[in-house]
Amino acid sequence: MTSFIVMDVLERANEMEREGVHIVHLEVGEPDFDTPACVKDAACRALEDGHTHYTHSLGLFELREAICEYYLSTYGVSIEPDQVIVTSGSSPAIFLVFSALLEPGDEVIISDPHYACYPNFIKFVQGQPVTIPVYEEDGFQYRPDSIKEKLTAKTKAIFINSPSNPTGNLLSANRMQQIAALTQCEQCPYIVSDEIYHGLVYEGKEHSILEFTDHAFVLNGFSKLFAMTGLRLGYVIAPKAFVRPMQKLQQNFFISANSMVQKAGVAALKKAGQDVVRMKEIYDKRRRFMISRLKEIGLGITVEPTGAFYVFANARHISEDSYKLAFDILEKAHVGVAPGIDFGPNGEGYLRFSYANSLDNIIEGMNRLENYLNG
Ligand SMILES: Cc1ncc(COP(=O)(O)O)c(C=O)c1O
Repeated sequence: MTSFIVMDVLERANEMEREGVHIVHLEVGEPDFDTPACVKDAACRALEDGHTHYTHSLGLFELREAICEYYLSTYGVSIEPDQVIVTSGSSPAIFLVFSALLEPGDEVIISDPHYACYPNFIKFVQGQPVTIPVYEEDGFQYRPDSIKEKLTAKTKAIFINSPSNPTGNLLSANRMQQIAALTQCEQCPYIVSDEIYHGLVYEGKEHSILEFTDHAFVLNGFSKLFAMTGLRLGYVIAPKAFVRPMQKLQQNFFISANSMVQKAGVAALKKAGQDVVRMKEIYDKRRRFMISRLKEIGLGITVEPTGAFYVFANARHISEDSYKLAFDILEKAHVGVAPGIDFGPNGEGYLRFSYANSLDNIIEGMNRLENYLNG
């Protein structure tokens, strides 16, 4: 298994901090905001009320119902609580989906660049990731025709992630529809849609894949939108035929998600709307600033990212080796950035900047980067 390089950058940065060096962290994909007070209160209350035991393996009914209401009010799609499996973060949800869906040798289409961990989940259950390059000039969106060309009898799933990590771009409704059209038969591949950055969209509108097809799995979680990374809560929405196999995996490997955190999840969905609006406004200010400053410094941004909290900038004119460049920036400019190669071969030559950090820190990070490049 390959390492998650951004974690290597972070760990080296932490080592330097222990030696007294001040680092500006633009490498980590984790909200810098505190978890909303209503969520923390609900977690504390749940502990006091004795929610410290196993729950139903699919998750608390109350939370699964709240997830259904959320998908209905946000996207107008109707799902039922017995299609929802609550997990300890969306990472175990990815594991459940691929474990249930893939036989050895089955293929899964993923974009290149993509979230660094996807291929490892697929390979761990002996599946075969099939990468499709996506390009800066398309805003890193899939070209549906390129997917069509790669479909084989072994293709079990087409993976989409919009807004995307690492690019921050959205897949248009039109392209989602075209991709959904490739999956409209019993034996057709499923779409697996990672919707973890939904809600963090600053221009345009994100769509759930369930608006276009129910031949799909949705992965989602509370880490990003509700700043709940350490609480570990996520879920899968699955076609009914797959729920029982995934439930058996959950029972054997994880038993259930954390009970008091599930209570906190209900509060997040029902009460944290205003907190999300506030965080979103701040992310958007940072996004605009970071994009304009990176362009000023000379990094390439063809289509401005409108979602998640990442800017994926072309740095090929500085170096073709993003790994070396990221570590050099860290050692010399004391700014943590994620190398594009972490996200697939087609990410080489790019750097991913996260704006999940304060505007002051972003200003300082951009100034340091400018001095490094001038220097
Ligand atoms: C695209 C994407 N999917 C899934 C995850 C996993 O998130 P978690 O396990 O915290 O829900 C991440 C985390 O960075 C991500 O960026």
